Amino acid sequence: MKTSLLVFCGLLGLSFRPVQPQAIDRRVGRLREVFAWKQLTYNIDGVLYQQDQFEEPSGVAVDNTRDRVKRQSGNLFFNNNDAETERNWNQQSSTNRNRSRGNRPSGRPLTNRPTTSTSTNRPDNVGGSTTTISPRDENGRFFVQYNNVPMGVERVGDRLFITVPRRRYGIPSTLNYVDLNRESNTLSPALQPYPSLQASRSLTSVYRTRADRCGRLWMVDTGMLEIPNNRQQIQRPAIVIFDLNTNQQILRYSFKDTDIPAENTPTGLASITVDITDNDCDSAYAYIPELTTFGLIVFSLADRDSWRLSHNFFSFNPTAGNLNIGGQRFQWSDGVFSITLAASSGDCKAAYFHPLISTNEFSVSTCVLKNRTASQDSNFWSQFSVLGDRGENSQCTMHDYHAGTRVVFFAEIGRDALSCWYAGNPLSAPNIAILAQDSQRLSYPSDLHVTGDEIWVMSNSLPRFGYSRLDVNEYNFHVYRANIQELISGTACEGFRTTANRDMA
Ligand SMILES: *[C@@H]1O[C@H](CO)[C@@H](O)[C@H](O)[C@H]1NC(C)=O
Ligand SMILES: *[C@@H]1O[C@H](CO)[C@@H](O)[C@H](O)[C@H]1NC(C)=O
Repeated sequence: MKTSLLVFCGLLGLSFRPVQPQAIDRRVGRLREVFAWKQLTYNIDGVLYQQDQFEEPSGVAVDNTRDRVKRQSGNLFFNNNDAETERNWNQQSSTNRNRSRGNRPSGRPLTNRPTTSTSTNRPDNVGGSTTTISPRDENGRFFVQYNNVPMGVERVGDRLFITVPRRRYGIPSTLNYVDLNRESNTLSPALQPYPSLQASRSLTSVYRTRADRCGRLWMVDTGMLEIPNNRQQIQRPAIVIFDLNTNQQILRYSFKDTDIPAENTPTGLASITVDITDNDCDSAYAYIPELTTFGLIVFSLADRDSWRLSHNFFSFNPTAGNLNIGGQRFQWSDGVFSITLAASSGDCKAAYFHPLISTNEFSVSTCVLKNRTASQDSNFWSQFSVLGDRGENSQCTMHDYHAGTRVVFFAEIGRDALSCWYAGNPLSAPNIAILAQDSQRLSYPSDLHVTGDEIWVMSNSLPRFGYSRLDVNEYNFHVYRANIQELISGTACEGFRTTANRDMA
């Protein structure tokens, strides 16, 4: 294991040569860029998909009715909207809306899609990058390259999982991976459906994944095609777990009606946090923040049961919702977004959480979350506390806690930054250190995850995609990594320096 890790790191080291002329500077602050894409491409069963493609690849069995219905459900008109939630659409100006709709590069208009799948596997030139596309022409298309915006990133061993939620048509697969060994010298690797194109069809739309220490990959499948103004609930929203050793799906737990109080609740199921005590894999809990209708869903794996909690701290702060990101000015209202667990002894951990639209950080004990009658207590509300305020423009998507250093890392959308806080200090703006910041290359850091002593970050320029147009000649999506010690060395986040820490650095 150790040897292969060294080999892996060595290979990765090679990849920081400027492999393409556009990629001369491969660092942003203390982050090292691993991959960057202008547009996503896919590698499906060895065939590269590098431009728009009408048809399903042949040779992939698509023989059951549910699959067919699911594909056809993509045959819908859409317009552009890429806020994290659809209701934000209503808040942007109609001028922006006009500007954002269907302005594809000019060229030959597309005609109807072929009615039968007679082609070979070769991605042909139908709908190439020099094509005018009116939205209707995207009906039923297998791959609409521009619509593929990566959201989640997570490294597990040699695989880097990358999710592409289905918020548009033409997304071949919502759960994908990159083989880090094979792609170590590639700047823009093609995504491979996980575990396969066919198996990935059981998933409708996934925002972010989380691996646990038991060799499992957890996620929420929202079950929803989130086409703006035309959402479709394809299947019940559910927790899905894959066994990373067998690459088989081992659980699909559909949420209860009481977990999903509104029709648009599934749009708020954007992340999941797994809680395992004493390496007891069978008794894991999962916490799912729900940002649209402001709740927190707790799942007990042992009991195959879930319950939903409410609290004012799950709501957004109305004074923190005016954003200016990537040249776009808009107002959002997303609630509780990310939960990270601070290490502690015993069953109870501190669960730190925040709404996306807020600069506050909050805390609650996992023992309160795991106690399914706790919310009936009249003092339930008082079990939650305000940790502090991270400072102006510090709105962030995901955050994660590194146990070895007791440092929490934040993916800040308001400041296009990666920041940190040493949990031994009070949470306040002066105790937050910015580790990397770039209005282009860290525009909308959409995911962040601590894996061992590394951090991995994705940025995806989402507001520009939603409210304007991505420039497909520029790098729009980036994946970064950094060693935790190197990242925080000499900053306000370097708390107690233990011998072990020095040895590691
Ligand atoms: C949007 O575009 C349509 C069609 O070009 C036009 O009629 C309408 O006035 C535009 N609206 C705005 C607000 O620019
Ligand atoms: C669960 O919460 C209830 C209500 O606060 C409390 O009475 C009970 O002791 C708690 N159970 C556990 C196991 O902590």
